[in-house]
Amino acid sequence: MGPVKLLFLVIAAAAPLLSAAKPSNNSMAKPPMLWTNNNDPLFNLVMLPILIQDYHNSDGLNFVAGFLCASNPTCDVYLFAVLITDVNNDGAMVDENAPAQVIWSANRDRPVRANATLEFTSGGNLVLRDADGSHVWSSGNSGRHVDGMVITEMGNLVLFDHRNATVWQSFDHPTDTLVPGQSLMEGMRLKANASPINSTENELYITVLQDGLYAYAESTPRPQLYFLHQMQIQRIGNAPTKATLMNGSLSFIWGPDMNENITLPVAQYTQYMRLDSDGYLRLYEWSSSSQSWTVVYDILGSMGMDPCDYPTVCGEYGICTGGQCTCPLENNSSSSYFKPVDDRKPNLGCTPLAPLTCQEIQHHQLLTIPNISYYDNFTIFDTQNNKRTSISDCKQACLENCSCMAVLCRGGECVSVTKVFSMQSIQPETNGYDYSAYLKVQLSPADENKKKPSNENKKKVMLGARLGSVTTLLLLFIVVALYLQRRRKYEEKDEFDFDQLPGTPTRYSFEKLSECTEEFSKKLGEGGFGSVFEGKIGEERIAVKRLEGARQGKKEFLAEVETIGSIEHINLVRLIGFCAEKSERLLVYEYMPRGSLDRWIYYRHNNVPLDWCTRCRIILDIAKGLCYLHEDCRRKIAHLDIKPQNILLDDNFNAKVADFGLCKLINRDQSKVVTMMRGTPGYLAPEWLTSRITEKVDVYSFGVVIMEIISGRKNIDNSQPEENVELINILREKTQNNQLIDLIDKHSDDMVSHQEEVVHMMKLAIWCLQHDSIRRPSMSTVIKVLEELPINIYMFDYLAKLYLMVLYLQS
Ligand SMILES: *[C@@H]1O[C@H](CO)[C@@H](O)[C@H](O)[C@H]1NC(C)=O
Ligand SMILES: *[C@@H]1O[C@H](CO)[C@@H](O)[C@H](O)[C@H]1NC(C)=O
Ligand SMILES: *[C@@H]1O[C@H](CO)[C@@H](O)[C@H](O)[C@H]1NC(C)=O
Ligand SMILES: *[C@@H]1O[C@H](CO)[C@@H](O)[C@H](O)[C@H]1NC(C)=O
Ligand SMILES: *[C@@H]1O[C@H](CO)[C@@H](O)[C@H](O)[C@H]1NC(C)=O
Ligand SMILES: *[C@@H]1O[C@H](CO)[C@@H](O)[C@H](O)[C@H]1NC(C)=O
Ligand SMILES: *[C@@H]1O[C@H](CO)[C@@H](O)[C@H](O)[C@H]1NC(C)=O
Ligand SMILES: *[C@@H]1O[C@H](CO)[C@@H](O)[C@H](O)[C@H]1NC(C)=O
Ligand SMILES: *[C@@H]1O[C@H](CO)[C@@H](O)[C@H](O)[C@H]1NC(C)=O
Ligand SMILES: *[C@@H]1O[C@H](CO)[C@@H](O)[C@H](O)[C@H]1NC(C)=O
Ligand SMILES: *[C@@H]1O[C@H](CO)[C@@H](O)[C@H](O)[C@H]1NC(C)=O
Repeated sequence: MGPVKLLFLVIAAAAPLLSAAKPSNNSMAKPPMLWTNNNDPLFNLVMLPILIQDYHNSDGLNFVAGFLCASNPTCDVYLFAVLITDVNNDGAMVDENAPAQVIWSANRDRPVRANATLEFTSGGNLVLRDADGSHVWSSGNSGRHVDGMVITEMGNLVLFDHRNATVWQSFDHPTDTLVPGQSLMEGMRLKANASPINSTENELYITVLQDGLYAYAESTPRPQLYFLHQMQIQRIGNAPTKATLMNGSLSFIWGPDMNENITLPVAQYTQYMRLDSDGYLRLYEWSSSSQSWTVVYDILGSMGMDPCDYPTVCGEYGICTGGQCTCPLENNSSSSYFKPVDDRKPNLGCTPLAPLTCQEIQHHQLLTIPNISYYDNFTIFDTQNNKRTSISDCKQACLENCSCMAVLCRGGECVSVTKVFSMQSIQPETNGYDYSAYLKVQLSPADENKKKPSNENKKKVMLGARLGSVTTLLLLFIVVALYLQRRRKYEEKDEFDFDQLPGTPTRYSFEKLSECTEEFSKKLGEGGFGSVFEGKIGEERIAVKRLEGARQGKKEFLAEVETIGSIEHINLVRLIGFCAEKSERLLVYEYMPRGSLDRWIYYRHNNVPLDWCTRCRIILDIAKGLCYLHEDCRRKIAHLDIKPQNILLDDNFNAKVADFGLCKLINRDQSKVVTMMRGTPGYLAPEWLTSRITEKVDVYSFGVVIMEIISGRKNIDNSQPEENVELINILREKTQNNQLIDLIDKHSDDMVSHQEEVVHMMKLAIWCLQHDSIRRPSMSTVIKVLEELPINIYMFDYLAKLYLMVLYLQS
């Protein structure tokens, strides 16, 4: 059930469903009370409110305390949290994509399940228990009598006594967010979440100390400092320092009339400040035009932090160069000690090839990486430890202490660390210092020949080295011989191994296909995986794709062909046959007479513009093809390279998706480009750089394709003036200014006369283009919306408003 139906069901059902949990006074509750997280999975409500602060600002947002769904897309786990959100009149429903932002939560390391309970005991203790009754969190019993619980106009959850004095408040236990009016007291921390969709704490935190703001990456025995902003504080007495988020500033206050400010943009609408999972301290503000939260200020950035200065920018052991991540000595095949955690996502960091073990401390060595700086602040470390040691002493001490993982040096100073976060490569001349990093690596005994020989055992080592290389050669020889032998056997056997199964694609000989295509003479096009040629088998016209770089074993190839061949759908280009001989790999597809979509929408061939109806049909066809791949196949298939070149058209402009399943056919090692990142620039979803890849990357690319179809241009068009090169950027700007109409293809009068519908279609594209992959709709939802389009434009308009509300384009 997609949101379309869901929304209406929920509106109808939400009131009775929630009445049981709804307190008589919205913002306040009196003990004893028990609330159960009885969210009905059928409705998949994102939150069950317990207290609602009805006071709201001009932007219509209010504060809610309640159970919030903390997983997507199905609610498996929940947090008891305080949110800023936009509660509709029922006070009940929050749409899947509503802009609810958690500003506080109870024990976010341990989300609870359905049927968890929150008990407000008569003793005045607030207790959260999981469904199995296990204790998850409590406000603690202070021994004072508690008269009630209230959520204040500032978003503070307060337990108060009969004199109205605060017994406990959420503002004293901040998580990763400050709201206006809230203070971070000296010693308190804001700790970042593991990721935008995982509320577990990570190792980054920011804290207020006596003389300013400090940001650290946690490590034992000492945290590593990555940012510092010191105040000119002259302390009188010992009142603690606090930092308060205000309208227009982050104010550090350490006494009456003793304050200093970090200036922030003045608030037009509701703001909050959050330490994000990447270590940035960002100020967010509600944007009423786009109905979404936008970043209005990068607080640490404004004080000189560079993207490469953040400790997790390139993961552990990663080296950041102008925002790009690499591993130490990545390009030096003769001495490689680190490998990327994930080839395709270099920002996840690197791991040592040989794990460090304390048992073999004698095989530890420090690898020198020149011209590397580290964020950890040398000065602080030195003053705290009151010692200055020479680099060689530092290195020696590190080699002798198993928990030391690296020594980082600047000029004559050095620090040793027990955990190596991201490093930064720097120009040697930047500021006169010599920078270098010495990373501890584990040599296997066979690697010993690489180790710098010390004088007394030089001879032994050289002999060892010679013996070592002879052994290596011998081994290599044996391995190669074995490989060749196996391969020969495999190929011989393989030629006879494959029987034609009914319903599977036909196997052709290379000779036959060469003949059909007149020796590959009529080239139709060229794609990421190889060239496509026109041919004829009997009367049937075919397209033959000759794969390049497909060096995988025949067995794997055949398995993949069988999978692709078994996928049949009217909106997917059909695989008719294949050929696998020696190193040749060919695929035979049905022929699509009108070629690929790009020929029809970019006006490179002086074609007449497509009318609105045809464009609509094409969009729906693509959606159906993709939906089948994502949701209806036996094995879920993400296409990973949706773009107009991969959409083919038949005589009647029915669209079919081509090239699905091919990534699998290409040997991972064949092409760096393919393994690092699949797809085509301009159509790539942002999460390629950061997180797990799901089929939602196709939804993003689909959004780009919709925009191209509607506006009749390429997303990235370098022939345009600089400010107009990227269509998606213009879209962002036009959305904010409510000028979407400007983007409609001017070549076509028909398009212009259907403006209203076209704008609705753009809103669908915007929905698909959201930065956060989880918020993008599934393809089946897209189809539902598309099918409603001509029938009930008013309903769609209503939905589109909701969708706009969730618009979450981020630059
Ligand atoms: C609701 O709470 C407010 C204080 O927040 C209080 O003044 C009011 O009397 C309460 N109303 C009811 C019906 O309990
Ligand atoms: C929650 O409790 C209800 C009624 O006791 C039960 O039907 C339901 O299966 C429970 N849900 C879960 C997820 O345990
Ligand atoms: C308690 O505080 C609330 C607001 O903080 C106020 O409206 C109410 O009048 C106070 N009640 C008493 C008894 O002081
Ligand atoms: C959240 O992050 C923590 C720590 O990184 C990890 O252990 C946990 O499995 C993650 N949870 C989910 C649901 O991904
Ligand atoms: C800091 O900001 C607060 C509130 O905006 C203001 O009252 C105070 O005077 C400012 N202090 C300085 C030193 O500018
Ligand atoms: C912040 O202050 C400005 C004036 O300095 C005012 O116009 C604006 O309304 C305030 N914003 C909020 C959210 O109170
Ligand atoms: C590694 O080599 C590639 C190309 O061979 C180059 O683009 C890249 O900058 C190099 N990386 C480093 C860290 O030298
Ligand atoms: C590769 O590493 C080895 C040993 O660390 C070093 O001697 C050699 O110069 C490096 N080569 C390059 C191209 O950096
Ligand atoms: C390190 O700390 C000192 C103060 O102890 C400060 O002056 C300097 O700017 C800091 N350096 C960095 C890179 O943060
Ligand atoms: C090893 O280093 C750790 C971290 O720097 C330190 O806490 C520990 O005392 C050191 N152990 C020895 C034996 O020096
Ligand atoms: C590091 O900097 C020095 C100058 O201090 C320079 O001579 C050297 O080539 C640099 N090394 C690398 C690997 O860039």
